[in-house]
Amino acid sequence: MDRSSERGISTKEYLKAENEIYNLYKSSAINENEILENLNLFTTVQHKKREIFFYEIYKKIIGMPGSIIQFGVRWGRELALFEMLRTIFEPFNHSRSIYGFDTFTGYPKIKKKDQTKLIKTGGLAVSKNYEKYLNKLLKVREQLNPLPQTQKFNLIKGSVENTLEPFLEKNKHQYFAMVHLDLNISSSTKFVIQKIKNRLFKGSIVIVDETCHPEFSGEMSAIIEELGDIKLRFKRIPHINSTWQSYFEVE
Ligand SMILES: C[S@@+](CC[C@H](N)C(=O)[O-])C[C@H]1O[C@@H](n2cnc3c(N)ncnc32)[C@H](O)[C@@H]1O
Repeated sequence: MDRSSERGISTKEYLKAENEIYNLYKSSAINENEILENLNLFTTVQHKKREIFFYEIYKKIIGMPGSIIQFGVRWGRELALFEMLRTIFEPFNHSRSIYGFDTFTGYPKIKKKDQTKLIKTGGLAVSKNYEKYLNKLLKVREQLNPLPQTQKFNLIKGSVENTLEPFLEKNKHQYFAMVHLDLNISSSTKFVIQKIKNRLFKGSIVIVDETCHPEFSGEMSAIIEELGDIKLRFKRIPHINSTWQSYFEVE
């Protein structure tokens, strides 16, 4: 399987080693009923760091009200992680909803100014009807938690340009403690910031997935254009920060 096409700037050697790990996973000799608890064998440092980063960020929002909203879900690994972190840190806080926005068909129609080598309409599409599978999986995961009867996540399918305003209108009570911006596209990110900025409060954390990224400069430029006049203090978490992620707190 070619895993290189979506990996941007990873080296050939890195991708080769990743592929080998993947092949070893496929041919794993672990008992089937023990595979899930042994997945760390196949997780790379890059991916683990990403999880630890979110772990550190989650700790910062525990004392705050507000929900978690993610723009750019793809296969949903972070929605599952947010759900795990909520269960660990605040198992009975059913007010901490988790929202995930995605087309689930990849990048929508890309404006010319947003196009890059790696951003094309339909890029990063997931499998057909994947959101149904993800919805089911997240529902089952909730059965492992306290308060399994209360659904605390929501997937919002469609382009944010169409879905975000109706969502905010319908959820006038929702303010956000944590926002994860991972759409990669400048104009969509800009749109999101314009629409949600009055749903943030002092201390809300905004995570930018691609900060100063040579191939995906759109998120950063959108933020600077939209919020630059409030002099943002972008931060990283030493040692565990993945290369391009950063965050800022609303001040
Ligand atoms: C980089 S991926 C997200 C990856 C995910 N956060 C993760 O780390 O696994 C970007 C996602 O944003 C979605 N996307 C991009 N522009 C969008 C838009 N305008 N509306 C909705 N989804 C969009 C794409 O479909 C894609 O799944």
